[in-house]
Amino acid sequence: MVRRVVDKRKIIIDCDPGIDDALAIFMALASDELEVLGITTVAGNVNVAQVSVNALSLVSLCGKRIPVCRGAAKPLIHTRREETRVHGVNGVGGVRLPEPDFGEDTRLAIDFIREMIELNKNNLDIIAIGPLTNIAGILLAFPELARSIRSIFLMGGAVGPGNVTPAAEFNIFADPHAAAVVFNSGVPIMMYPLDVTNRASIGEIQMAELWNMGGEIPKFCHRMLAKYADFYRGKGIAEIALHDPFAMACVIDEGLATYKEYHIDVEISGGLTRGKTITDVDGITGNRANVKVAVDLDKKGFVSLLFRLLASF
Ligand code: BDR
Ligand code: CA
Repeated sequence: MVRRVVDKRKIIIDCDPGIDDALAIFMALASDELEVLGITTVAGNVNVAQVSVNALSLVSLCGKRIPVCRGAAKPLIHTRREETRVHGVNGVGGVRLPEPDFGEDTRLAIDFIREMIELNKNNLDIIAIGPLTNIAGILLAFPELARSIRSIFLMGGAVGPGNVTPAAEFNIFADPHAAAVVFNSGVPIMMYPLDVTNRASIGEIQMAELWNMGGEIPKFCHRMLAKYADFYRGKGIAEIALHDPFAMACVIDEGLATYKEYHIDVEISGGLTRGKTITDVDGITGNRANVKVAVDLDKKGFVSLLFRLLASF
C-alpha cells in the first residue's frame, strides 16, 4: 500500500509560559500535524528570563530539543507590570519544573523568526499566545516580511468584555501598541478571543481524568491547573478556561471553531479602554475585514483532542 506523506504545518510558538501556554506547548510537541521550528519568548505572564527558563524546561520534559530564543523584556511603549495572581511567581503556578537539559539559543527571538520566515516563505505560521511585542518588532523592522508569513494564529482580545480590565484582554492590554502594529500589518490573522476561549474550559471531572491518565506530563499539567483553578474559584467560576490550548487546538484542527471576518483595530490610548480590540461587527467603518475571528467552538472536540495529545506522552 502506498502511504501519502502529508507535510506537517511548520510553526513557531511565541509565548509567555504561563500555565495555559505550557499546555499549548505540550499539545504542539505531541501533535503529528505540526512541526515546531522553535519557541520564542516574551515578557507577559512573568518576566522574560523566567518564561525562557520555563520554555526550556517544558521542552526538556517532553524529551525534545528545539531552539528556544529569548524575546522582548518589555512592551514597545508601556512600562511592564508584573502580574502574578493567575500564574504565580514562577509562571507555572509555583509547581517545580525540572532543570532544563539544554540552554537558550544564541539568536534573539526576532532574528530567529526572521530567519525562519525567509527559509519557509509562505509556509510558516506564527502561533502567538503572549503579548505581541516580538511579532510587532519583526513587522516594524522588516515590513516586507508580512507578505511571507502564511498566518498568525493569536490568542488575544475580546469582542465583548475583557479579563484584565472590563474592556481588555491580558495579551493585548500588556502591549496594545504591538497589537495595533500586528492587526494593521496585512498578515492573515486567525484570532481566538476570550469570547470563545472562556468557553474552552474544563471542570472537576476532566481534572480527575487528567490525573488518572498517569504519566509525568499529565500529572504535571494537573498540578499547574490545580493552582489555576484556585484563581478561578476565588472569582466564583467553577470551570477553568484553557485560552492558549484552544488556539493551539485550532492550529491542529481549524474545524474546532467557527469564524466570522471582521475589521479589528486596537485602542492604544484610552485610560479605561486601553488594549480593547474594537471589532466592527456591523461593518460601520466600511474598512475591509483584516481578521478571521473565532466566534463559536466545538468544546467536546477540543477537550478530546487535548486529552488525546496529553495521553500520548
Ligand atoms: C491570556 O493571558 C495569559 O494569562 C494566558 O496565558 C493567555 O495567553 C488570556 O487572557
Ligand atoms: Ca499566554
